[in-house]
Amino acid sequence: MKSLDYSKSAELLGRAKKVLAGGVSSEFRKYNHPHAIFYTHGQGSHIFDVDGNDYLDFTLSQGPLILGHSHPHVLKSVNDYSELGQLYAGQHIKEIELAEKINKLIPSAELMRFCLDGSEAVQTAFRVARAKTGKQKFLRFEGHYHGWLDNVAWGISTPSVDALGSREHPNVYPWSAGIPDHSKDEFIILPWNDLALVEKTLAEHHQEIAAIITEPIMCNNGCIMPEEGFHQGLRSLCDQYGIALIFDEVITGFRMSIGGSQKYFGITPDMSIFAKAMGSGYPISAIVGKRAWMGLIEEAKVIHAGTMNSSNPTIAAALATIEVLEQENPYERMFRLGNKLIQGLREAANSNNLNLLVQGPGPMFNIGFTDLEKVRDYRDTFTYDKAKLGKFIAAMHDERIRIIGRGLWYISTAHTEADIDHAIAVSQRVLSTL
Ligand SMILES: Cc1ncc(COP(=O)(O)O)c(C=O)c1O
Repeated sequence: MKSLDYSKSAELLGRAKKVLAGGVSSEFRKYNHPHAIFYTHGQGSHIFDVDGNDYLDFTLSQGPLILGHSHPHVLKSVNDYSELGQLYAGQHIKEIELAEKINKLIPSAELMRFCLDGSEAVQTAFRVARAKTGKQKFLRFEGHYHGWLDNVAWGISTPSVDALGSREHPNVYPWSAGIPDHSKDEFIILPWNDLALVEKTLAEHHQEIAAIITEPIMCNNGCIMPEEGFHQGLRSLCDQYGIALIFDEVITGFRMSIGGSQKYFGITPDMSIFAKAMGSGYPISAIVGKRAWMGLIEEAKVIHAGTMNSSNPTIAAALATIEVLEQENPYERMFRLGNKLIQGLREAANSNNLNLLVQGPGPMFNIGFTDLEKVRDYRDTFTYDKAKLGKFIAAMHDERIRIIGRGLWYISTAHTEADIDHAIAVSQRVLSTL
């Protein structure tokens, strides 16, 4: 298959590297095919690069663009509200309107605070949990991503499955140089989806543990659904031991349902984090929770602050996004289109005798080449043939279909039936060349 022309992007990357570290502003952007790409604009389900290539986009900016690129209601609301001002170091009316809406839609959202991104909202939840329980550690799971800050940048990059060691007492590795070694003393880590192991660990360590944090669906590694009863079990254990249950809904929020995955699964966590799809690409996140926990922020026992929080454009973007989701109620359609694509990819792989595993609920899903019938936790993801996936993603990109490099696909309300049919047909062709 012929490679596309990426020459203008290559030239700009050379220029960027002289002044931007690595030519980019986020580590993940380096790993596009064949290198970081420069874009000119996005429209609906499509994104366009400086070489004039038009891609059908399943990356959706790593998740935020649930309404697709450049949704007119979002852009107009942001523009209109920004014309009045940017940031007041004070309150404004749309901030209340957004909070009232989220309070109505999300089961655990009795009180909330807005901030800029998922990483800092996660840290706010830890602070509240520690303050309320008087305990210091959090329990988390291998392969779950909770941002790039020190105490969570472990357990996501491991040299080999053997290096993880025992399931009861896993080894952890820092994602980056410069992460203080003592930050790993803040948590206990376990493989996901193993309730018996959580039970056993809590029986021994509950006096140290302030919170359990989980992605409700393990989107960042394999897009793995929780085993039957897993979340319910976490909920009961947290109640039993006075531990905060934190759902990191940065990916699942506004994507699994308008009330997040907590509404979808019918489990109400104590606190949760929303970001990505909430703001359609504008920097806004929310830490939301039950009054019993978030009340500590209300009373200023726990401090949460931020100069840039709840600026006019970010609040307007979130409000407009939620208005569209409420009006269109696109969930049945996003699930149906996602599942059609999942089915099409499975059939294309079968007809080419390839061991492609496709899993996930539909609005997002993951692909990987493995002989396993199901990937159940981070340890299983080591069976993926990464080189083969890399070839597939690169060949799809050369066919102008853009997918996240680790195999994750996102569906937006802008994707059409024809987009899905096209993606299946191209996948069939590309898989036949692997
Ligand atoms: C589940 C989850 N939590 C937290 C984060 C961190 O969010 P941000 O990149 O907005 O800081 C991410 C980012 O991808 C995520 O996927």
